[in-house]
Amino acid sequence: MAPRQGLCSLECKMKTLIFFGATGNLFTQKIFPALSSLFYHYEIRDLALIALGRRFSKEGDYRRFLQKIHQREEKELLERVFYLPGDLENPEIPSKLSQLINKTGKEEAIFYLSLPPSLYNSALKTIEKTLSLSSPSTKKVALEKPFGSSEKDFEELEKALKKIFREEEIFYVDHYLGKATVQNLIILKAENLFIEKLLSRSFVKEVRIAVSEKEGVGERKKFYEETGAIKDVFQNHLLQLLTLLAIDIPPLCEEDRKECQRFLENVGQAKSHLLTEIQLPPPEAIYLGQYQNYQEEVENPHSQIETLVYLPLYISSERWQGVPFRMLTGKRMAERESFLEVVFHSHFPEDNLLRIEIQPEERIDLLIRVKTPGMGLYSSPTRLNFTYSGSFGANTPEAYEKIIYDLLAGDRTLFPDSTFIRHAWQIVDRLVSIIHKEGIKPHLYPVDTLTPGDFWISPPQITISRKTSHDYRE
Ligand SMILES: NC(=O)c1ccc[n+]([C@@H]2O[C@H](COP(=O)([O-])OP(=O)(O)OC[C@H]3O[C@@H](n4cnc5c(N)ncnc54)[C@H](OP(=O)(O)O)[C@@H]3O)[C@@H](O)[C@H]2O)c1
Repeated sequence: MAPRQGLCSLECKMKTLIFFGATGNLFTQKIFPALSSLFYHYEIRDLALIALGRRFSKEGDYRRFLQKIHQREEKELLERVFYLPGDLENPEIPSKLSQLINKTGKEEAIFYLSLPPSLYNSALKTIEKTLSLSSPSTKKVALEKPFGSSEKDFEELEKALKKIFREEEIFYVDHYLGKATVQNLIILKAENLFIEKLLSRSFVKEVRIAVSEKEGVGERKKFYEETGAIKDVFQNHLLQLLTLLAIDIPPLCEEDRKECQRFLENVGQAKSHLLTEIQLPPPEAIYLGQYQNYQEEVENPHSQIETLVYLPLYISSERWQGVPFRMLTGKRMAERESFLEVVFHSHFPEDNLLRIEIQPEERIDLLIRVKTPGMGLYSSPTRLNFTYSGSFGANTPEAYEKIIYDLLAGDRTLFPDSTFIRHAWQIVDRLVSIIHKEGIKPHLYPVDTLTPGDFWISPPQITISRKTSHDYRE
């Protein structure tokens, strides 16, 4: 049974969550189930939801749609869902929305943009007009990545947000940070001094960070054609994981718990600073891929969008100088898996390795060598392991439960701040400029075949062309 912790114990205020895009995939598949869990298991009852979408014209139809998707009796929560139909460009939306906010109590209004990013500006204009008609005592806004598509683009988005909201009212969502194993990266280092000490160039040969996806672009064709793997995953999830692993946890964590706690609350600053120390590799080390059939799928026979990117990054600090951080993300790979691997210097290649897996299972493995049974003094590799489900049962909250819980509580620890996002875009802008300048084009790769392991030694020698379809392994 999940722990019960009503948010009222933190700050007892009626909260109205206003979801733009509440008929979409993200809201129906991830956010609504998370809200349901917070409502029923964590007893966070001081909530009302306003759902905006175009697909239904009647509230009853929308509620039935939600109920059908989740196939369970959620009467009490569904009664708190108010549906507002209409296109964002509809000039009547602000007055109708403000009336609904007034009806739900208007103590705190939290606007959540679960929309294609191209609609963020229209949504912000709608919010601005709504707030001029209804003034809740407190307000917040949460939005989903990608946050723009370059540093300049992000600055414009930030400017539009800051016309309405103060910095501390803006929550940029990277749901990866809601995963227990990702948060555990901080605890592992802060609370296990030996791990923090081992994570440096004296002991580490290389670090590997991979987010490999099995699915292709699916319905998100237009979005992906404007984005690609670098902007969709590398700019956010991969750089988040890298910084969480590589930041310095100060020595004060050894003795002064209070100071340490203060540092942990400001982990964001350390992560943003680390991004300024990142160095890109020479152009020949940057590898782009595009899965076979991608061009047909997106109906663009000339598309040069990368669906896979692999490159080593370096950190110029004393601690990490010379250690490659091998970064990989790709679509239509053999398996869906996300992990970090820290490979230690060893007499036996690959045998001393710390593997932190985020997907498919939240687990940690440490590969060490032990004595082989028998008379001789020989050794073999073995694995010490920990799984969240094995040690704590199946009750770890889903990423969006944690994200929405923290959003309601106003805890910003797990939300990237604007400095982090700006620095991450600076890295991506530099990378994209090298790719254009050097004319680096994606290699074609076969679907459902590649694994991250294919990249750690050297990028695969792909031999398939658009005309022939034989596997590069042949
Ligand atoms: N899906 C995921 O798992 C996931 C994960 C991480 C981040 N994200 C991000 O979350 C955001 C939403 O993704 P999604 O997968 O939910 O997209 P989606 O399934 O395409 O949903 C888009 C939503 O926007 C609404 N919409 C579109 N045009 C509109 C307009 N002109 N006026 C009013 N509403 C409009 C749609 O309403 P109707 O359908 O009713 O027309 C729908 O509710 C994106 O920024 C995405 O990058 C998604």
